[in-house]
Amino acid sequence: MDLDALYKLTHGLYILGATDNGRPVGSVVDAVMQVANKPVVIALSCNNQSYTKECIERAGVFGLSVLGKGVEPYVIANFGFQSSRNVDKWESVDYCIRDGIPYLNDNIATVRCKVLQSIKYDSNTLFIAEVLDCDNGESREPLTYLDYRSYFKDEVIKRFNEVKQQKEKKMAEDKNEGKHWVCTVCGYVYDGDVPFEDLPDDWVCPLCGVDKSFFELQ
Ligand SMILES: Cc1cc2nc3c(=O)[nH]c(=O)nc-3n(C[C@H](O)[C@H](O)[C@H](O)COP(=O)(O)O)c2cc1C
Repeated sequence: MDLDALYKLTHGLYILGATDNGRPVGSVVDAVMQVANKPVVIALSCNNQSYTKECIERAGVFGLSVLGKGVEPYVIANFGFQSSRNVDKWESVDYCIRDGIPYLNDNIATVRCKVLQSIKYDSNTLFIAEVLDCDNGESREPLTYLDYRSYFKDEVIKRFNEVKQQKEKKMAEDKNEGKHWVCTVCGYVYDGDVPFEDLPDDWVCPLCGVDKSFFELQ
């Protein structure tokens, strides 16, 4: 069986939004399709590890923001590479709350749903849900799962790593705020314009002459 054949079943990409007792949660999903039109019903498949899935099971409602081509790659990294269990993902994006459900402002359509039924598989939970309302936004072309796999994924990973590094740098700066590099031999306090970390390896203490390794952040 060649499972790659299944990639030829086309999907869009969506930000799935739900709430955890009022706290907005969400994830990226592609496994969504309309399965009936009277009433209007869709199927959504969530991975059983997903925290958003747990929240949908509790609340019984969710929303979808349909992504268009040209979406900022970090949006997919933010919602797809980390869990709402320990990150407030919506803080990093422009969003709005309607009927208690969070939606990405940069969407081409939104859909609000109520769960009618759920089916549990070992890996996934399939929600069968009625569409309560939907809003047709911009006419931009939808971003597809195929776009993600064929050209967008590398960009998404790159942006994720860039933002992660920026956050780590900021955390290190915040931690060191108000601290100074001090020579442990003579007590000289470094106050030069060049950040201490960027001084050359052969730099020495102007008072006692020891090298950088004798300095501590205090
Ligand atoms: C392109 C892409 C498509 C995805 N499609 C699905 C999907 O259809 N269903 C699903 O449950 N998870 C899907 N995921 C994985 C979730 O977005 C990911 O596991 C997320 O971290 C879950 O977050 P949560 O724990 O906050 O719910 C997809 C991820 C990416 C990057």
